[in-house]
Amino acid sequence: MAHSNLSLLGRLLAWLLGTTAASSAAIGVVVVSGRHLDAVVVIALITAISILSAAVLLLIMRRYFLAPLKDLMRVSNQVTSTDDIKLRAPKYKSDELGRVVDAFNAMLDRVEKRETELTAERDRATQALQQSEAMTEEAQRTMHKLEFEVQVRQRIERKLTDFQNYLNAIINSMPSTLIAVDAHLLVTQWNQEASRLSGTRSDQALGLPLADAFPLLGEHHDLVQQALSEQSLQSRHNLQLTLPDDQRVRLNLVIYPLQQTEAHGAVIRLDDITEQFRLEEVMVQTEKMMSVGGLAAGMAHEINNPLGAIVQNAQNVQRRLDPTLKKNRETATGLELDLERFQAYLQAREVPRFLNNITESGLRASRIVTNMLQFSRASGHQLHPYPIGQLLEQAINIAVNDYNLKAGYTDHNLFVDQDFRAPEIEVPCVMTELEQVLLNLLKNAAQAIRERFETLNDIDEGIIQIHQYLDGDDCVIEVSDNGAGMSEATRKRLFEPFFTTKEVGVGTGLGLSVSFFIITAHHYGHMSVESEPGQGSRFMLRLPLQLPETETSEASAH
Ligand SMILES: Nc1ncnc2c1ncn2[C@@H]1O[C@H](COP(=O)(O)OP(=O)(O)OP(=O)(O)O)[C@@H](O)[C@H]1O
Ligand SMILES: [Mg+2]
Repeated sequence: MAHSNLSLLGRLLAWLLGTTAASSAAIGVVVVSGRHLDAVVVIALITAISILSAAVLLLIMRRYFLAPLKDLMRVSNQVTSTDDIKLRAPKYKSDELGRVVDAFNAMLDRVEKRETELTAERDRATQALQQSEAMTEEAQRTMHKLEFEVQVRQRIERKLTDFQNYLNAIINSMPSTLIAVDAHLLVTQWNQEASRLSGTRSDQALGLPLADAFPLLGEHHDLVQQALSEQSLQSRHNLQLTLPDDQRVRLNLVIYPLQQTEAHGAVIRLDDITEQFRLEEVMVQTEKMMSVGGLAAGMAHEINNPLGAIVQNAQNVQRRLDPTLKKNRETATGLELDLERFQAYLQAREVPRFLNNITESGLRASRIVTNMLQFSRASGHQLHPYPIGQLLEQAINIAVNDYNLKAGYTDHNLFVDQDFRAPEIEVPCVMTELEQVLLNLLKNAAQAIRERFETLNDIDEGIIQIHQYLDGDDCVIEVSDNGAGMSEATRKRLFEPFFTTKEVGVGTGLGLSVSFFIITAHHYGHMSVESEPGQGSRFMLRLPLQLPETETSEASAH
């Protein structure tokens, strides 16, 4: 660049020298040819020529040097003031100045290109910004929509939870055991009664295989599988199961296949019929007892008179054979009969023994008949309120002393444990009859304990517990023992008249049947028993404190 500037200056000087030499030659010509002209004219001429040359020089400089620069300056200023980068400096020649102009224009080109690029970039950025704003707006709209949907969903979920709780409350308050299982026999629903029977809590049971959650069902699990595969209802009645707490229950089992198209499963329902079964048994027993009892009472009534005659006549015969009686001696003397020899004859033929047998058997039969007379529906005695604690104490005392409850217990201990919760309560009763019931129960308990000592011999001491309490309007008396207990067959028949498992002569089999009648027919109460072989027995008496209308009106009429 410096080199090109120097050559430009050189050429300018050469051109000036050339012009000056030509002017000098012209002046020389003037001087030579115009020797006559004075110096002033010459000087003026020279000056004029010089001025002219300078003007020409100036013109030339202006034309070739200053004008392009000026244009360059102008375009540059215009670009600066107007920001119009489309402007370009005009190029006059392809010399150094022309190249400066080219460089300037090239710079403007680049600036313009950069500007264009920047504008495009800015447009893109603006577009992206607008897009992102639109997207933000869209996102906000979606957010609001989602928020609304979440709220709706939450409301629905709350409603569903409420409904689920409501359903659970219904299912839980049902007295039946309700269990739902899916197609793989995994538990999906479990109510409170299911927890009570199985001992498995609902939160433990849900999701467990049925066999683990309710092992009690045992072999009946196959029935659930069958209900599922055949899509048919399955049922079993009167199943006898032992609960984890050793309680024995009777259950009805029904398995329903679930009526849902998308989900297979089954609902298992178990109804505890233990109490119902017991009540039915009691009712059947009561019915049976009433008819058998009525018959027995009728018979007893009929037998009572001839039996009385037999006993009375036998006793009369005994009396009339008694040699110590004055009347007998007088009669014998009147008939000239040797009473001493006659007595010897009777003794030799064992007549007094036979007569004794007749009397004793007659008296025994008469005791049985008296018992049987209790089988009539009405006792014939009026019920009077009596403090139950006192009555129980008296019965225990009689049993311990008179009945010799502890007879044969020299090697073993027998305890009578009493727990009276409301002894002051006055129960309407025939005191002697109720006492008789308690004596029967205590005697049976002592005999059952002795039987256990003699057979199983697996207890250290015999315990008879008498528990008395109030339950609503009833006074309840429970007599339990840890004796031999009884089989189901015995339990079903023990209230039947003359049913006994004891040896002939030990028991008549009337104790409980008479007791049953006294409690149910005479006292409007209930009597029941729970017992297992080798597990002892528990007898329950339930006596109403309020008598039925008929009894109270009868009582006031007397
Ligand atoms: N506490 C008991 N434990 C076990 N078995 C009993 C108990 N009480 C009664 N039994 C059974 O019931 C049967 C009937 O009893 P119930 O009192 O009616 O007659 P009994 O005791 O055999 O004769 P009785 O009472 O006339 O002496 C008894 O033979 C016995 O098998
Ligand atoms: Mg008895």
